[in-house]
Amino acid sequence: MSPQESKFITVLGIESSCDETAVCLYKGPRKLLENQQMQQPHGEVLAEPLFSQIELHQKWGGVVPEIASRDHLRKCLSLIDTALQEAQLSKEDIDVIAYTAGPGLMGALFVGSCIGRSLAFALNKPFIPVHHMEAHLLVPMLDEPALKPPFAALLVSGGHSQFYGVKNIGDYQLMGETLDDAAGEAFDKVAKMLDLPYPGGPSLAALADQGEPAFKLPRPMCDRPGFDLSFSGLKTATLHLIEDLKAKGELEARKADLAASFQEAVVDTLFRKAKRVLKELNMKTIVLAGGVSANKRLRALFQTLEPKGYKIHYPRMKWCTDNGVMVAYAGWHAWHRGFAQHDHTVPLAVTPRWPLSDLT
Ligand code: KG4
Ligand code: ZN
Repeated sequence: MSPQESKFITVLGIESSCDETAVCLYKGPRKLLENQQMQQPHGEVLAEPLFSQIELHQKWGGVVPEIASRDHLRKCLSLIDTALQEAQLSKEDIDVIAYTAGPGLMGALFVGSCIGRSLAFALNKPFIPVHHMEAHLLVPMLDEPALKPPFAALLVSGGHSQFYGVKNIGDYQLMGETLDDAAGEAFDKVAKMLDLPYPGGPSLAALADQGEPAFKLPRPMCDRPGFDLSFSGLKTATLHLIEDLKAKGELEARKADLAASFQEAVVDTLFRKAKRVLKELNMKTIVLAGGVSANKRLRALFQTLEPKGYKIHYPRMKWCTDNGVMVAYAGWHAWHRGFAQHDHTVPLAVTPRWPLSDLT
């Protein structure tokens, strides 16, 4: 290894928790500068091939776990080869292997985890089981090295809707979360009611762009104190509205307005609760992450806080939804926290349910 290369570590990241098989080779500094960890440039993405299973699941209208697992198995190794070729590296150049160990679909998680662990064993390299939601949460920092804790975070994906107080990297205080559906899940279900193609979130958001939020829909739990969320009542209210419009023969003409009204109800609810969380934590910075952070209306609404002195951060578009970069990058952070594991005899475990506040 040349002295130049030894200043960096190369992390292989593997993501397979749901319906994207994604791999990344990431090169980050081996040493963090004392007391200014986050000001330091964080490194470089060398390759980030991703295969989306959208087409495979589309005809079923949602993710079919067994189909997802089988396809991860089909694609993962060849994506690793592609990444190595793109980065012009060999397997031996990898210093550590990070893979999503949870939360997510059990079978899907097993595929990426087995491949990660097997490679680590074969190459005699350390491995790092990564928390998928921590990976979502950290990835905005990759583009913004000046962003550092403490800050508030809103994690909104297909399976999670949660507010956190981030005291430090690795130290996450859950402030509130959804009591039923996640925000992304609500988008997906309402999209299905409107016969929009899977994945529903982006389809519904695109339709909403063509309409106006003309219908009044509830802002769930905003009339109560606290930071928890609930989207199932809003989903039911939307279903009743759809049935009413259908009965009057007006559904087709009002679909875009309905989509815009539903989207507005979700993002406005998240926004109102987020303001409470910021006030409670006495913080002026919030990170939005997870698939729903790709929503343009959500971003625009949060940005209205900026003239009031708040800072809003979110990942670049392609890193909002599941990707390998966030896993490799979270792996790099975990490596610096001393979480790399060297004992290849430790039994492989995946954690389909894994609270982020329990991260150790
Ligand atoms: O983070 P992610 O890729 O996967 C999970 O960890 O769940 O998030 C996927 C979720 C889906 O529910 C999808 O419909 C939603 O994010 N989503 C969106 C948008 N893009 C993705 N929801 C609303 N607006 C969008 N533009
Ligand atoms: Zn995700």
